[in-house]
Amino acid sequence: MNKTIYFIANWKMNGNCNSIKEIERVVSFYKKKANTNFNKIIFCPPLNLLNYFKKKIKNKLIDFGAQDISKINLDYGPYTGQLSGKMLKDSGANYVIIGHSEKRLFDEDFITIKQKINSAIKSKLKVIFCIGENLLQKKKKLSLKVLKKQISQSLEKKNINKVIIAYEPIWSIGTGILPTNDYLSMIYTKLNIFLKDKYKIKTPIMIYGGSVTSDNVVNLGNISLISGFLIGGASLKSKSFIKIIKNYFI
Ligand code: PGA
Repeated sequence: MNKTIYFIANWKMNGNCNSIKEIERVVSFYKKKANTNFNKIIFCPPLNLLNYFKKKIKNKLIDFGAQDISKINLDYGPYTGQLSGKMLKDSGANYVIIGHSEKRLFDEDFITIKQKINSAIKSKLKVIFCIGENLLQKKKKLSLKVLKKQISQSLEKKNINKVIIAYEPIWSIGTGILPTNDYLSMIYTKLNIFLKDKYKIKTPIMIYGGSVTSDNVVNLGNISLISGFLIGGASLKSKSFIKIIKNYFI
């Protein structure tokens, strides 16, 4: 059975108005590609660019997401510096990244992440919910315990169908180091069982993030429980991003 494969570009704190040409190149590649039914491309640029990109890129095959959301579950209010789900939605986002390790590091604890997930879902945004262990936790064989805790503490049962779980080992993000296939298979198999048992979901959507490139995506494609990728560095240039998509389907 064909399933949707997600290619999600996490631009982090990168890009400017000119970067729209990178997205335009992906659009023209995508238009030419025959089989567009089974994959979904989502760009998550910094918020200052989101609305501009959304207005310029009319192609329905490309979707957009934000990289953060206010935990305050209101549309508007006296909250300096906050951006509500409604505002993100109005800016053109249909998705939002929550729980990224680069955010957890500064200001996202379990409760904040839970509030953000609820805020997002209230605004009809789909959530790209990031989880991941650090190197020390991996070395101590605590990975699964950490991941399960990250999920349980922030994800309520009622929200399970609205999230894409992005497993991103912290030690792999931006390092060029990838987990072995055995390690990934173990993690995804156990997470799959955990999510089915605890959240009563038939088919959880799980993706992978951390140093994904056009070279290693072929191998990552062998792990059947991985339904796509959250891509940082290699998503900034259309050439490498397109190559990832192409190579995955080879
Ligand atoms: P990377 O980032 O692909 O540059 O490792 C992935 C991420 O942080 O989402």
